[in-house]
Amino acid sequence: MTSQVKAKMIIDKEFVISRIDKRIYGSFIEHLGRAVYGGIYEPDHPEADDFGFRKDVLELVKGLNVPIVRYPGGNMVSGYNWEDGVGPAENRPRKLELAWRTIEPNLVGTNEFAEWCRKAGSEVMMAVNLGTRGVDDARNLIEYCNHPGGSYYSDLRISHGYKEPHRIKTWCLGNEMDGPWQIGHKTMEEYGRVALETAKVMRWVDPDIELVACGSSHSSMPTFPQWEATTLEHTYDAVDYISLHQYFGNRDGDSANYLALSLEMDRFIHTIISVCDYMKAKKRSRKTISLSFDEWNVWYHSNDADKRIEPWTVAPPQLEDVYNFEDALLVGTLLISFLKRSDRVKIACMAQLVNVIAPIMTENGGTAWKQTIYYPYMHASVYGRGIALKPVIVSDKYDSKDFTDVPYLEAAAVYNDEKDEVVVFAVNRSLESALELTCDVRSFAGYRVAEHIVLENPDLKAVNTAGSEKVKPHSGGNARLDDGLVSALLPKQSWNVIRLTKAGA
Ligand code: AHR
Repeated sequence: MTSQVKAKMIIDKEFVISRIDKRIYGSFIEHLGRAVYGGIYEPDHPEADDFGFRKDVLELVKGLNVPIVRYPGGNMVSGYNWEDGVGPAENRPRKLELAWRTIEPNLVGTNEFAEWCRKAGSEVMMAVNLGTRGVDDARNLIEYCNHPGGSYYSDLRISHGYKEPHRIKTWCLGNEMDGPWQIGHKTMEEYGRVALETAKVMRWVDPDIELVACGSSHSSMPTFPQWEATTLEHTYDAVDYISLHQYFGNRDGDSANYLALSLEMDRFIHTIISVCDYMKAKKRSRKTISLSFDEWNVWYHSNDADKRIEPWTVAPPQLEDVYNFEDALLVGTLLISFLKRSDRVKIACMAQLVNVIAPIMTENGGTAWKQTIYYPYMHASVYGRGIALKPVIVSDKYDSKDFTDVPYLEAAAVYNDEKDEVVVFAVNRSLESALELTCDVRSFAGYRVAEHIVLENPDLKAVNTAGSEKVKPHSGGNARLDDGLVSALLPKQSWNVIRLTKAGA
């Protein structure tokens, strides 16, 4: 039997990282696989509403309290003609969707998605096509979406039944334009130029928008991080955010190493902040660029199955990763990474939301359920609102194949000043032993433990499937608060949410 591991933590009301931008709990719906057709939209389903949206899926989405959803891609947007997806459904073309080699029926488009977001209580984060299109298309789309009326495209929207503009605030200038797989892939100079010109014109149509320039598709791209530097060299004054994308997988079955991958995420975030601030200094600018981590998740379980998918069908089961318990633990650590850098990470989108590398799965014509990763995402989104506090953490550590000094405890603390609630999110990475946590909370006088939620499972490979939920949280954690000190035993390999509320509140 291995001896227990230990960690100490101090949190203080005054140790403020930042007020958290709720958009770090965003997500993503791409016209890919069964995300849209058979996911959010299935008009023949018994749960479909008048628009054809699945109410059972909407309920699960609402449970996640998703503030913003990126749309319509992803790789797909780089070949997308948005005009194909507006106007009477019977006139919409079926087209070859080249990014994912499917047939796109265009039954859902800009207006339906905006409608769905309203029902879900989310904002739209819209991406424009800078692959096959460019400035002209982007200015037309924003006129269609955001201009009140009295112009060709705004009147077209009104004629399509949407009198009120969609007022979409956050826009992505293309998607992964550094990737050779992208339709209309560009060099960094080409991208920087077109992103700047597109940004300029979009702001002329609507000065209130926020713009995200494409960063690298992942941190192993050969052009990383020069891509970000060159892109910002061109666009610094015209954009608000640079994007980051990263997916993870436990390909060699080394779980201790896998659970340390959030350290790579931390490094990636740190590097991009450094590039942004280098450019700030170079440009003698007073403006600070924020980060939009607008694609992140685990993605590897479905890679082999995807090779066997028949091309040119509507909504095939692509990228349908079935997540296990260790994926949920990693996702918990990644969410903690965003909280730790919430001073600079202002948007983050779990990719994606339904069926496609997603926390929510459905059967066509059947049920919908929560994957394992649903739970840490839900807990962070529901309880992680307010002010991120900088914890001082001293934890026992381990070495893994690719990392040294991996703390067993990964943790973040949030003070919700509206609700008078303090929440500690904590992962015990140890695969062998419980972790004895003590957390000094003396600056929060008069608080008590309201709940200690635990997501634990003896089997790292346990999954949730239709009708069988093997991985789900319970509220039986043993956290207690005495004399300003929280003590808790975090079970081995566990995700924990310790909620403190003001006594009497
Ligand atoms: O989310 C799946 C795909 O991953 C997106 O389409 C693309 O942007 C990324 O490579």
